[in-house]
Amino acid sequence: MASPRELPIGVFDSGVGGLTVVRALMERLPLEHIVYFGDTARVPYGIKSIPTIEHFTGQITDFLMERGVKMLIVACNTMAAVAVHEVARRAGNIPVLDVIDAGARAAVEASRGGNIGVIGTPTTVNSNAYARRMHALDPRIRVFSQACPLFVPLVEEGWLEHEVTRLTAREYLKPVLAEGVDTLVLGCTHYPLLKPLLQDVVGPGIRLVDSAITTAEFAAAKLASLDLANHGEVPARYAFNVTDIPLRFQTIGERFLGRSLSQVTKVEW
Ligand code: DGL
Repeated sequence: MASPRELPIGVFDSGVGGLTVVRALMERLPLEHIVYFGDTARVPYGIKSIPTIEHFTGQITDFLMERGVKMLIVACNTMAAVAVHEVARRAGNIPVLDVIDAGARAAVEASRGGNIGVIGTPTTVNSNAYARRMHALDPRIRVFSQACPLFVPLVEEGWLEHEVTRLTAREYLKPVLAEGVDTLVLGCTHYPLLKPLLQDVVGPGIRLVDSAITTAEFAAAKLASLDLANHGEVPARYAFNVTDIPLRFQTIGERFLGRSLSQVTKVEW
């Protein structure tokens, strides 16, 4: 039987967006095997009701648990915001990390004046999950949130530097910027791809927190503390499971991953 250290890390998202987290993990933890699940047939989750998201999240957790993983990472901010309890309940002793926890910690550390902006899907913003986690770390933090539902389709369209995206960002960010935030959390899997454009819109004085990178740091620390890091000499194996393979899946996926995307399997369930 394989040692638990050799088991893969399970990473999941509502679609391809979670590949931003996989990319950060591949860079930070190059020896770790990864099994990814993207619910591309049912994306987007960010505009769905909480019971529906809980139900889908439970199904995905069971799928990954059956494959045998040593850690689960909820890469989707929306699932992390409203359904992380479903993951923890089914994961038993397996450690569960999520992008909101990582992003909230990084933002509180990064903020100099304690005024933090959060942007995400409508479900993430309405859940107040980022604010709750930040207040648990430091009750003096002031959080200003803004839902940016048009960013997901704009990123999937590849309009990362497009004038339409710039105008949309200016419009969405106006109220948050008016509050004088010094840090802005990119609270959605898709937003790290807009980082250069968003930094340009908010100006150099505001720090952008990319929870994908922080999540990879947290995963590395957790694996080391539990003695679960893989020291093996075999190259890392990656498997990508999706519920649908849409027309432009390969192009979009490779943009998120920053490298070629192979070993993609359509899940039948
Ligand atoms: N993955 C989602 C998130 O991070 C964005 C896409 C969706 O709405 O499902 O919130």
